Amino acid sequence: MRRFIYCKVVLTTSLVWVLVDVFLLLYFSECNKCDDKDHSLLPALRAVISRSHEGPGEMGKAVNIPKEEQEKMKELFKINQFNLMASDMIALNRSLPDVRLDGCKTKVYPDDLPNTSIVIVFHNEAWSTLLRTVHSVINRSPRHLLVEVVLVDDASERDFLQKKLENYVQTLEVPVRILRMEQRSGLIRARLRGAAATSGQVITFLDAHCECTVGWLEPLLARIKEDRTAVVCPIIDVISDETFEYMAGSDMTYGGFNWKLNFRWYPVPQREMDRRKGDRTLPVRFGSVVASPEERAKSSTRTTGAWLKSGWTSLKTSSTSYHRIRNVETNQCVDNMGRKENEKVGFFNCHGMGGNQVFSYTADKEIRTDDLCLDASRLNGPVLMLKCHHMKGNQMFEYDAERLTLLHVNSNQCLDMPSEDDKMVPTLRECNGSRSQQWLLRNMTLSA
Ligand SMILES: *[C@@H]1O[C@H](CO)[C@@H](O)[C@H](O)[C@H]1NC(C)=O
Ligand SMILES: *[C@@H]1O[C@H](CO)[C@@H](O)[C@H](O)[C@H]1NC(C)=O
Ligand SMILES: *[C@@H]1O[C@H](CO)[C@@H](O)[C@H](O)[C@H]1NC(C)=O
Ligand SMILES: *[C@@H]1O[C@H](CO)[C@@H](O)[C@H](O)[C@H]1NC(C)=O
Repeated sequence: MRRFIYCKVVLTTSLVWVLVDVFLLLYFSECNKCDDKDHSLLPALRAVISRSHEGPGEMGKAVNIPKEEQEKMKELFKINQFNLMASDMIALNRSLPDVRLDGCKTKVYPDDLPNTSIVIVFHNEAWSTLLRTVHSVINRSPRHLLVEVVLVDDASERDFLQKKLENYVQTLEVPVRILRMEQRSGLIRARLRGAAATSGQVITFLDAHCECTVGWLEPLLARIKEDRTAVVCPIIDVISDETFEYMAGSDMTYGGFNWKLNFRWYPVPQREMDRRKGDRTLPVRFGSVVASPEERAKSSTRTTGAWLKSGWTSLKTSSTSYHRIRNVETNQCVDNMGRKENEKVGFFNCHGMGGNQVFSYTADKEIRTDDLCLDASRLNGPVLMLKCHHMKGNQMFEYDAERLTLLHVNSNQCLDMPSEDDKMVPTLRECNGSRSQQWLLRNMTLSA
């Protein structure tokens, strides 16, 4: 009995020593590979890294909200149309998987790439999504290529996007500037304002709720270095709007801009597949728009879903012509002002940049902007933008290329410039041949 206990003690102590040996061996053999200065850091660092991969949403994992919180989650969902509760639980610098093709991970890029300024437009964006965008840009872009981040606030009303945001961005290690539009101006105008304020050699536009992954920037800049007129676009993966899970997208589509300068996805045509000879690490070329599989940033499904939907619409209607509609009297243009369905159409100085001032005049004699049509329902009334119904009716305008008038057939009135009391909204009036009722429809070219 006594001998048995003695044996147990000897066994246990030797076991402890074996463990200690193994630990020491492992510790020092690993450290042979690292710099001296990292010695003391190593175990602590590893603990932090493994812990940071376990938080909510780390490594791009889905965040699932417990049952008892679901009611609150649904309430919060309405604020931004994504799962705000999940987003707020995830670290602003969360880790993401590297989903690039292996061939892309090992590509080497020139050292002397052009540097870039990042422009991000936001309107009432959530704190966590906006700052996760900014952190991912800072953490995953080579510092010497990143000149600055310019945040353009398109007239947000939320309090935390004012002083609190200004204070926060001052703590970041890259210059972050905030520009404020005086009034709601729409994406295009806000982007142009941001672009004008940049000093980098390349301007990169990002959505306010995306996260960049490692190696996202270098391939984009490398294409521009090869051809400085190139407009490049990465493959964009998807963040689930429900769980914030990172989901890899397809490299069989390419991104491009439609006639409104909105981003769209298009399937890669067969001739491009043939040209790449099966090498999916080569960029897809289409005109001057390039999508490269090694560049990955992503955007929430909310926007991607919308892009896909309208991408289809704009492909379908691509046989119609696109116009800028300029008033002869004031030289200003009809402008959708980035407004939505059921809102009034606007009127603004012609900027010649397309965007919100491009309308299509369809075979049904509708004046159309994306899937909305100009619509007037009462005499001398304002002109609204409603869903196109293809039934003519209040959406039919007859253009007279000689008199330059746009006759609203249902009311037998003419489209006229805005009145004194509503300066920004074109209205209907009795046709009397005045210059304010004359409109020049100039064809827009759609290629970049
Ligand atoms: C994020 O930042 C925190 C605090 O600075 C740090 O502890 C953590 O390791 C970081 N996470 C990642 C994935 O880098
Ligand atoms: C960006 O590159 C240009 C040209 O090389 C250089 O003049 C400029 O200083 C760079 N900007 C920053 C902030 O590094
Ligand atoms: C047309 O009517 C508007 C007011 O409705 C008036 O101001 C304008 O002078 C008229 N033009 C002509 C050519 O009669
Ligand atoms: C505009 O384009 C359409 C269709 O391509 C064409 O029929 C029309 O003549 C053009 N108008 C002008 C003013 O160039």
